Amino acid sequence: MRVFSNSAISVDGKLGTSSLDHLVIGSDEDRRLMSVLRAQADAVLVGGQTFRNWPLPLVESPSALRPEDRRSDRDGLIINAVLTRVGITSASAVAKRWPDPRVRLLVFGPPTLDVDAHRQALGAEVFTSEEPGVAWVLDELQAMGCRSVLVEGGGDLIARVLRSGRLSELFVTLAPVLIGGVSAPTLLDGAGLRADELVKLRLQSVKRVDDELFLHYTLRSGGSPG
Ligand SMILES: NC(=O)c1ccc[n+]([C@@H]2O[C@H](COP(=O)([O-])OP(=O)(O)OC[C@H]3O[C@@H](n4cnc5c(N)ncnc54)[C@H](OP(=O)(O)O)[C@@H]3O)[C@@H](O)[C@H]2O)c1
Repeated sequence: MRVFSNSAISVDGKLGTSSLDHLVIGSDEDRRLMSVLRAQADAVLVGGQTFRNWPLPLVESPSALRPEDRRSDRDGLIINAVLTRVGITSASAVAKRWPDPRVRLLVFGPPTLDVDAHRQALGAEVFTSEEPGVAWVLDELQAMGCRSVLVEGGGDLIARVLRSGRLSELFVTLAPVLIGGVSAPTLLDGAGLRADELVKLRLQSVKRVDDELFLHYTLRSGGSPG
């Protein structure tokens, strides 16, 4: 299964501000790329924090796609998958946006998740495990027939996917902006890697549009740093 991430970061590597407000870092071209990559995915996976910040359907925008970017072989609806411990029903915008006829919303987490509340507020299906984690979510998605999973963050989730050894590609939009803040989320959060664990990347392509860089990397060192 192809597992790839897409993120827009500031020049100092931040995904957003310390206050975790929803922030649009990239340009219209970045949003177009987001649609192109979503069109390649059977499922888009985010962490609970990211969903609560932007509790909207993660779907491609048909108007942003060129004919060659369009997709006709996805089986059924695009899946939006959320990994969460505390659940995602607290987001105030949720009830207004969900269910969405374009999306199958799946929530993954511990048995303490309120299955009925998620179904009623969001039309979501809930999957639970005593030991929820990224590898389990990816296995479940694969068992459902997903052949490609796009990880849209945030930094905590991307770090977990990397640690799982399943991440094979990263798309990174380097936006010409500085954000700063020691607690602001970065592309790769969590505990970080040791010097002997660093993950090496191969730059597959770089595209410049005005002051923005669009980078596509694959992992050289397998991406399972322990
Ligand atoms: N610029 C970009 O491209 C971009 C993209 C995405 C996000 N963002 C920003 O990044 C920030 C969020 O990133 P983040 O790193 O703070 O959070 P995140 O990666 O979105 O989510 C982390 C969350 O994942 C859940 N989780 C992690 N491990 C789990 C496990 N084993 N079992 C169950 N749930 C687990 C927890 O959710 P719960 O808290 O729900 O329990 C945890 O808080 C936001 O500011 C967002 O706007 C930016």
